[in-house]
Amino acid sequence: MVRNWLITGGCGFIGRNLILNLIRSDEFYIRIIDNLSQGTRQDLAQVCKFNEPDASDLNCLGDLNCLLAGRVDLIVRDILDAELAIQASANIDVIVHLAANTGVFPSVEDPRSDCMTNVIGTLNYLEAARQQGVKRFVFASSSAPVGECQPPIHEALAPHPFSPYGASKLAGEGYCSAYFRTFGIETVALRFGNVYGPLSDHKESVVAKFIKQINDGKDLEIYGDGTQSRDFIYIDDLINAIRLAANASDCGGEIFQIATNRETAVSELASELLIMSNNVNIKQDIKITNSDSRPGDVKCSYADISKAKRMLNWRPKVSLDEGLEKTVEWFGK
Ligand SMILES: NC(=O)c1ccc[n+]([C@@H]2O[C@H](COP(=O)([O-])OP(=O)(O)OC[C@H]3O[C@@H](n4cnc5c(N)ncnc54)[C@H](O)[C@@H]3O)[C@@H](O)[C@H]2O)c1
Repeated sequence: MVRNWLITGGCGFIGRNLILNLIRSDEFYIRIIDNLSQGTRQDLAQVCKFNEPDASDLNCLGDLNCLLAGRVDLIVRDILDAELAIQASANIDVIVHLAANTGVFPSVEDPRSDCMTNVIGTLNYLEAARQQGVKRFVFASSSAPVGECQPPIHEALAPHPFSPYGASKLAGEGYCSAYFRTFGIETVALRFGNVYGPLSDHKESVVAKFIKQINDGKDLEIYGDGTQSRDFIYIDDLINAIRLAANASDCGGEIFQIATNRETAVSELASELLIMSNNVNIKQDIKITNSDSRPGDVKCSYADISKAKRMLNWRPKVSLDEGLEKTVEWFGK
């Protein structure tokens, strides 16, 4: 069982859910790298107590005595800092690489910055894994590398990214493959579906955005006609996949679609969330509006997840209705 975890982007939505899951279930040492461009110290404090090593402590990261069970260290630095990546990877069993530019739209606005963070940032941590002998590297990819194709998407399809974000995640998958095949680092690239759930209040992904709009009594804005579809996966199912990917044998160099194999239109999602909203007064006034579709967004997407079922022994357990109810409830707290 993996014990010493390095989580880049650990202050974000998926990172904090992973940390919450790890510290609840077992005794782990966790080291986080995050530049706080999205997540904050306050966000992290919602899920755990943590230490922030100062500059002199950073020189001691290779010291086995600092790997205390139950301890969480936050290092506020950018993943573009290659030297820090090597320092921070000392005595680590698994790197879960989550820090990234996370959206299609920002990548369309600024493709170069998306490339630097998602490609060079990923290379920095793969290289750190190589230099420090870290055995396992779990990479947060997305369905975006595949691009526009007839769904369901699966791992054997030739990728044709639609957006710069898809291209940068594809490059990350490429480096993962190369670092396994050339250097033996057991890389596992997980292509997350559209993830939703608690601790996503800073996100602009569609579930979080709609719930915030409903709670604020605002109309729900859909880009395009709403027939575009996504495969929505509840955060607990995703965290389970990350933990399996960190521990499973014989999955080095592999890519897995991690989703639900269910397609939901964005207009259907909006109607369902409106119905779920408890506040009838607000609900009656809220309309669903349509604006122009955005460049870089694929039309329809859902995934075939049979490879993850077969090789990781993973399957999603939370239905969309159940997951949305839990998420709406969390946002209402
Ligand atoms: N949430 C989803 O639906 C989804 C879907 C597919 C893939 N992913 C991938 O999963 C990963 C995590 O996504 P998330 O939803 O938790 O995003 P998030 O924005 O909530 O978390 C990302 C964290 O990374 C940090 N970060 C960003 N750039 C950094 C940098 N240059 N150096 C150090 N830290 C940096 C941010 O401060 C933030 O705390 C990303 O790689 C994303 O592309 C997410």
